[in-house]
Amino acid sequence: MAANVPSLEQPALLVIEGGNTLRGSVHISGSKNAGLGAMAAALLVPGETILENVPDIGDIRQMAQVLNSLGAKVEFVQPSVLRIDASQITSSAPPNELVVSLRGSFLVLGALLSRLGEAACSPPGGDVIGQRPLDVHLKGFQALGAEVWLEGDRFMARGGNLSGARVFMDYPSVLGTQNLMLAACLSRGHTTIINAAAEPEVSGLAQLLNAMGARIINAGTHTVDIDGVEKLRPVTHRIIPDRLEAGTYAIAAAITGGEVDVQDVYLEHLYSLIAKLREAGVEVEERGDNLHVRRSGGLKPLSIQALPFPGLATDLQAPMAVLLTQATGVSYVHERVFDNRLLYVAELRKLGAEVVTTGTTTAVISGPTPLTGARVRALDVRAGAALVLAGLVAAGRTEISDIHHVDRGYERLQEKLCQLGARVERI
Ligand code: EPU
Repeated sequence: MAANVPSLEQPALLVIEGGNTLRGSVHISGSKNAGLGAMAAALLVPGETILENVPDIGDIRQMAQVLNSLGAKVEFVQPSVLRIDASQITSSAPPNELVVSLRGSFLVLGALLSRLGEAACSPPGGDVIGQRPLDVHLKGFQALGAEVWLEGDRFMARGGNLSGARVFMDYPSVLGTQNLMLAACLSRGHTTIINAAAEPEVSGLAQLLNAMGARIINAGTHTVDIDGVEKLRPVTHRIIPDRLEAGTYAIAAAITGGEVDVQDVYLEHLYSLIAKLREAGVEVEERGDNLHVRRSGGLKPLSIQALPFPGLATDLQAPMAVLLTQATGVSYVHERVFDNRLLYVAELRKLGAEVVTTGTTTAVISGPTPLTGARVRALDVRAGAALVLAGLVAAGRTEISDIHHVDRGYERLQEKLCQLGARVERI
């Protein structure tokens, strides 16, 4: 771990006294997932990469430790500005204990394969939200000419001379697309990724790589073309705003019947959310870089489907479900990205929500149900954020344990919520 990027504290409980209406404005931090991709990209450059607008959150700090274990030097030189010096890469294999709890760490495989011609990485962990295979990544590396095999519990990859190829991805995996871009941008010849993920975090990575000298075309669509180049140069790059954090605060405004200016966002990353909030009766105004969210009347029920971008983000499925507990009527939720991302429902029921699940991907929510504070557990980043939203409207005191999950993905959550008028403390 870089000496100056220490671990965040892991407080035991977040305590929310519900019932306050949120009002005011909130600045949205840089994107966690775009930040993780950008950190992996820095491994491709034998020099210093400066990343601006990097959120100071658990997952970013953990990725810093992963990079550090490989020989890179990672340092927050100012708030939100991360300097990564990858002049010397001394290892091609991050230690298991650093990768098991961070899904995004698997991106080092593509970057190291490209930079060193070999890499090894254990299957990363991350959130328990369903099966999270890696076949798309591994088949992609093989298509570029790498040898890939399993040795013990590690994936090994070797390929000193990667060559461009046409790669079909069975599923438009976000990290899979990013990993292939990292591996392909310094390979010989032309690569086409068919059925690529179109998420903004993929385009964000392509922008960074192109600024470094890569030639990636059409990132953000489902067919991405890459012309390999010989080397990349150091750059300074700004991370895109976190659309998932933005969505969470927009929903917080809506659920508390408040009025919040969600600031410094890219509206085009939020169109699906804006559409569904408006359909539910929430007033949403698009004001340049800000999203102004206000609710004065009741909420209407919705049918929502979590889908790859530009569909409604799976990461906002749980927060939206919490909002729908306050809508009058029956709402339907269909999670279509992950096969087990409704585990938070059991926690939500402890607060009094009426939610019935069928299998592991659909839920029916009856509302409005008055929620009452209880002791609940954050199961992952977004499930934890969903419980925070529930706590904001629950009567009395909600205590959320395992809050380090939320700290992995949300910068200064307590401070931002308190500024908006919520009563939140850590004990
Ligand atoms: N999939 C495969 N084969 C693969 C990879 C994925 O079948 O090789 C399937 C998965 O089983 C899943 C679907 O593809 O059903 C989507 O998975 P994807 O690979 O797109 O997810 P990911 O890249 O592992 C990233 C984000 C997640 C976000 C998803 C979907 C990072 C670090 N993680 O994960 O973010 O939910 O894309 O948009 O970028 C979070 O921030 O809390 C989070 C979980």
